[in-house]
Amino acid sequence: MFAFLVLCLLVIFAQWSWALPTRLKPATINNRPIIGILTQEVNDRVMKPYGNTYIAASYVKFVESGGSRVVPIRLDQSTDEYEKIFKSINGLLLVGGSSDLETSNFARVAGMFYRFAIMANDAGDYFPIWGTCLGMQLLTVLVAGQNLLTKTSAENISLPLNLTSEAYSSRMFEGFPDDVMNALSQEALTGNFHHYGVTMQTFKNNEKLQSFFSILSSNIAENGDIFVSTMEGRTYPFYGVQWHPEVNSYQWNPKFNFPHSSNAVRLSSLLAEFFVNEGRRSMHHFDQPEEEASSLIYNYTPTYVGNFTGYEQIYFF
Ligand SMILES: *[C@@H]1O[C@H](CO)[C@@H](O)[C@H](O)[C@H]1NC(C)=O
Ligand SMILES: *[C@@H]1O[C@H](CO)[C@@H](O)[C@H](O)[C@H]1NC(C)=O
Ligand SMILES: *[C@@H]1O[C@H](CO)[C@@H](O)[C@H](O)[C@H]1NC(C)=O
Repeated sequence: MFAFLVLCLLVIFAQWSWALPTRLKPATINNRPIIGILTQEVNDRVMKPYGNTYIAASYVKFVESGGSRVVPIRLDQSTDEYEKIFKSINGLLLVGGSSDLETSNFARVAGMFYRFAIMANDAGDYFPIWGTCLGMQLLTVLVAGQNLLTKTSAENISLPLNLTSEAYSSRMFEGFPDDVMNALSQEALTGNFHHYGVTMQTFKNNEKLQSFFSILSSNIAENGDIFVSTMEGRTYPFYGVQWHPEVNSYQWNPKFNFPHSSNAVRLSSLLAEFFVNEGRRSMHHFDQPEEEASSLIYNYTPTYVGNFTGYEQIYFF
């Protein structure tokens, strides 16, 4: 009887602990995480001969550097199949690129995963999402329910982040050593390659964005507008960077301004570790080991594209 009571209490405690705010340590850790990376339509003419959809290998390596495996997610599957993939992976990365944020398949499938993730997190089933550049922009569209982007070009330029006070109490930067935090706000460690963004003003005036995300940093665009450059969900484990942490370690084309200093590489590594740690809190898994093995990115071979794109290697699908 006593044992039964203890068991009941443990079960109650276990369920209660899942409902706690995100900062508390989870009861269990998944040390074999798998992050899904959503493929994107090929829009670039020079890439078209190789495939209809792609993932730049730099994003795959970024995730792998944090200690996770990667599953590519295609754009042509059914809702049931996406639901099954969602239950098999421990987080989602939305890459940068040039797909339409409202009408593309990239946006449509991302929206589906976003809704799955909202429902899962609401039910205490932790599921992180990371958006880089276009991926961050897409998160703002999904949360706001409208496209609030305006021209905020910062193309081929590395910038220090103008950190907000909230950055210093954020989850994203919590594990950063002080010297990297200082470097982040003083050295040009973040590579920018974008034409659109959400301005600080627009962000703060939008009730949905304002209540969903904390702004962790801003930067000044070529036209003088201040855009939001880093954000994290106030309660949901959703993160967005308007800049490109993956280029610091994994893109080298000398025609582009990619930050490669030792602090730039530490920044990239720390963020990859952070995001994968978020994924370790998800207990989703594939039903069968064979299914897991055949879904992983290891089944695909990237193509060398360093002689005609800004990337080094791309996975085409
Ligand atoms: C930094 O951001 C603050 C608002 O958070 C703004 O008032 C300030 O002008 C910005 N400074 C720079 C150099 O971007
Ligand atoms: C990017 O910036 C670098 C350094 O400022 C410059 O040398 C290069 O020409 C630029 N590349 C493009 C494609 O504009
Ligand atoms: C790029 O290099 C590969 C060989 O590595 C070659 O087959 C291909 O034709 C080159 N592409 C261009 C556009 O130069």
